[in-house]
Amino acid sequence: MNIENIVLIGFMGTGKTSVGKRLAKHLNWDFLDTDAAIEEISEISVPEIFRKHGETRFRSEETVLIKHLLGRKKLVIATGGGTPLQPENWEALSQLGLIIALFAPIDTILERIGNRNDRPLLKAGREEDQRLLLSRQPIYNQADLIIDTTELDIDEVVDEILGKIEGRIKDETKN
Ligand code: S3P
Repeated sequence: MNIENIVLIGFMGTGKTSVGKRLAKHLNWDFLDTDAAIEEISEISVPEIFRKHGETRFRSEETVLIKHLLGRKKLVIATGGGTPLQPENWEALSQLGLIIALFAPIDTILERIGNRNDRPLLKAGREEDQRLLLSRQPIYNQADLIIDTTELDIDEVVDEILGKIEGRIKDETKN
């Protein structure tokens, strides 16, 4: 079966946005980052939404956005780390296309994020961050494909994805 869209899920700092942008370029597809789309629509940043309106509001904006995407084609979607956790979001994401989870262990994630940490949910310290990652991993593990990015750079992750989906993308969409 042909893949209509590609959905990237995974914990914060696993590279969904960077990989998604590059993958979309290779496929000549559009790229959409759910956090960036929400920021554009609400005209404030994700940390500000959390601060001013709370996480519940952010989660409902995520759900509205994901459902809006149904029917789209040739889109690489980078989700937020919490997007696939709500069953109705998961349902919509699986309707959209192939779900690929990017994995990295907590120390790699914290190293990658470094002091650019603008994630409201990733400021509690290593133990808490690890607990959050472990609690979410069973959901991420339900993806169609799981890529361990620990030892890979962005291009290597993209190559691995392209290798795995070869033959399931219509030829005219290829570069
Ligand atoms: C979140 C991850 C963030 C963003 C928000 C909440 C989460 O996205 O959606 O801060 O719950 O894991 P990234 O995974 O792109 O950092």
